[in-house]
Amino acid sequence: MVTRSDELYETDFYAWTRAQAEALRRMASERREVPLDLEHLAEELEDIGSACRNAVRTRVRRIIEHRLKLVYASATERRTGWLDSIDEALAEIDDKLTATIRRDIGDRLKKLYAQTCPRVVRDLESYGERAAAPLRALGVTVSLVPIPAGEDSKTIDTVAALWSAFLKAGIERGHAVIALGGGVVGDLTGFAAATWLRGVRWIGLPTTLLAMVDSSLGGKTGADLPEGKNLIGAFHPPALVLADTATLATLPGRDLRCGLAEAVKHAVIGDPGLLDTLPRFAFCKDGDASIPCARLSDAAWLAPFVARAMAVKIRIIREDPFEKGFRAALNLGHTIGHGIEKATHFAVRHGEAIAIGTVLEARLAEELGLAQPGLAGKLANLFSSLGLPVVPPPDIDPAEVLAAITLDKKKTDGKVRFALPVGLGEVRTGVTVDDASLTRVLKRG
Ligand SMILES: NC(=O)c1ccc[n+]([C@@H]2O[C@H](COP(=O)([O-])OP(=O)(O)OC[C@H]3O[C@@H](n4cnc5c(N)ncnc54)[C@H](O)[C@@H]3O)[C@@H](O)[C@H]2O)c1
Ligand SMILES: [Zn+2]
Repeated sequence: MVTRSDELYETDFYAWTRAQAEALRRMASERREVPLDLEHLAEELEDIGSACRNAVRTRVRRIIEHRLKLVYASATERRTGWLDSIDEALAEIDDKLTATIRRDIGDRLKKLYAQTCPRVVRDLESYGERAAAPLRALGVTVSLVPIPAGEDSKTIDTVAALWSAFLKAGIERGHAVIALGGGVVGDLTGFAAATWLRGVRWIGLPTTLLAMVDSSLGGKTGADLPEGKNLIGAFHPPALVLADTATLATLPGRDLRCGLAEAVKHAVIGDPGLLDTLPRFAFCKDGDASIPCARLSDAAWLAPFVARAMAVKIRIIREDPFEKGFRAALNLGHTIGHGIEKATHFAVRHGEAIAIGTVLEARLAEELGLAQPGLAGKLANLFSSLGLPVVPPPDIDPAEVLAAITLDKKKTDGKVRFALPVGLGEVRTGVTVDDASLTRVLKRG
């Protein structure tokens, strides 16, 4: 029987259209007296059903993907609450979406989650156990203190939680604190160590590429305020940094690419030969962390590459530990990069913004006659080949980027100072640029 249309949304709409089409076909085959081309109507109904289903599915997929990224990004903190956020995502879906589709998506999500997130959580936890075991075997007392993942936890509250944990663990002057994790863990732990009993030693065991080649090394430690990133902080260099590139096997492709952007930046600043050691590999697209990403995280090429990228930064910070002079070269790509991060409300990730920033700063250097023409193009090809963006997102407002750059905390005498690439292996620091040139470059992309 043909059902009434007010029952439409009580069942899966697609299933409903198919059932109706079937009923119409049955009526046609029974040759009932109806003034309609039933076959044609049945087809039309089926088409409407599939179109709606596809539209709903696309919408659902977009919402779910967005949610999944959030769930995935903070897998460690949400491992008990992840179902809640999926429920939240499902609640956003149009009321008309039926129970059947909900169940279907719920099941698929659970499978996806089961395949990815718990593995990462287990791995991260096991890294902690693996680091603690040999120390315990030496008779050292080790307390593990988990920190919730993500930039959101880079707050003074987390630092206070660390201080409490230090108190509970009886951390004294001669003891050391170990930061095992990405840049967030390193910055927080280093700062908590800098301020505990007026300073205890800290050791970095970085587990993201960015932390290995960059954040664990410079001695800059700190936390964010709601008003801005890294506003609280202290120079407190680590006593030791050990980077085990095997941990990168579990790092998502996008995080690896962001770390690569910083490593390439180091090559451009002080070791262009490093670029020749980059293997030719394909990069996976977002959310497709399959085979190519596994090759990207292959420790065989990564280990020497990471060691060499670390060496560039170590050389520079040894010469200028408190950023009085040439250390500013490490800000290559960062002046425009920070502007892009802020103007996109951090939708463009740090490493991605650095890739775009380095290319645009090279273009500026070309305009100012500091760099050989062609440098920006060369850098753009390089970053693109690594799966990194090289132009600002199309919907970005250059005026907003400019405003964010002008507010940059590194400005002195009211002027923003750039570290601009002059060639591969050469950077000029302290360069001031007029707003018109900067706007031109931002507009051209
Ligand atoms: N101190 C410095 O000089 C300096 C320099 C650059 C950046 N930073 C800071 O570093 C932070 C960014 O660091 P990040 O990019 O490492 O981000 P992050 O520390 O937030 O780590 C990214 C994500 O990866 C997860 N993770 C870490 N290791 C993993 C592994 N081996 N496998 C799977 N997942 C893993 C984390 O739990 C987190 O969810 C920012 O706060 C930035 O301000 C500091
Ligand atoms: Zn950076």
